[in-house]
Amino acid sequence: MHGVNSSQASAPLLCAEGLYKHLHQPSLAFWRGRQSRTILRDINLSIRPGERIGLAGVSGAGKTTLLNLLLALKGADAGTITCQGQPVRPASVRALRWYRRLVQYIPQDPAASLDPRMSVRDLIREPLVRLNVADNHARRIDEALDRVGLDRKFSSARPGALSGGQAQRVAIARAVALRPRLLLADEPLSGLDLPVRARVMQLFDDMSRLDGTAFLIISHDLSVMPRLCERTLILHDGAIIEDRSTAALFDAPAHDHTRALVRAAHLDHAAMTPASATVLHPVS
Ligand SMILES: Nc1ncnc2c1ncn2[C@@H]1O[C@H](COP(=O)(O)OP(=O)(O)OP(=O)(O)O)[C@@H](O)[C@H]1O
Ligand SMILES: [Mg+2]
Repeated sequence: MHGVNSSQASAPLLCAEGLYKHLHQPSLAFWRGRQSRTILRDINLSIRPGERIGLAGVSGAGKTTLLNLLLALKGADAGTITCQGQPVRPASVRALRWYRRLVQYIPQDPAASLDPRMSVRDLIREPLVRLNVADNHARRIDEALDRVGLDRKFSSARPGALSGGQAQRVAIARAVALRPRLLLADEPLSGLDLPVRARVMQLFDDMSRLDGTAFLIISHDLSVMPRLCERTLILHDGAIIEDRSTAALFDAPAHDHTRALVRAAHLDHAAMTPASATVLHPVS
């Protein structure tokens, strides 16, 4: 583990510039041919080492689509993504290995992402092997289990024998074992009970403060952002309509849409100030 020095902290880790994604669908009216719909428009964002950024928006806003572009699982119709200055776009497994080591993903539905035939230990080992990580795998697996608070007695269990929360922690451990520079997490707290939620939030704190890991955390629920993210982006109808400090966003939402989201989160500024004051500072 190592801290982040100031020169690293100032250079963006991941940059997206002018991303567009269109969806081409056959029209139900055959004489109209194919119809095109824009689901992401002019997306610009940059993520620096150690930063924790929230991405919120209602269902259908385009959150998962953006995540898929950032993971190079799908290509953009326009715009560029760069990581540490290198272009990122869909390519072969081998060509993207460097990127997969740096940028990892925690899926929204972890149980579905885990191969039911593999043990917990093998599930955590698999990405280390696939991405040619030259290190002691057994040590990394134990460390990852400890960090997500999963007893090592679960090592030999199969996903079918795990609760939803335990499966979610295995999915998180798979990503954590790789010691990524950036973690993209799709609703990482949903389905977790309160003590496990607290543990995962503490893990994210530690990873960003101590290791300089950056996070992009997707949530439809804005109320988790003050605790998790110093900056929050609001995606609305495929466009980023807010990109500000979480505290400022809650304090004075610039858009009606954000105001409605803040209201829906049932948070008032007085209630969130103590939490934000303790956790919303970037790594030093
Ligand atoms: N394969 C697809 N076929 C048809 N429409 C799609 C497809 N993928 C995405 N869309 C459309 O693109 C828009 C954005 O979808 P996306 O899944 O990115 O939203 P989201 O913000 O992740 O929503 P949710 O919170 O429900 O997961 C939606 O209108 C959706 O219907
Ligand atoms: Mg989604």
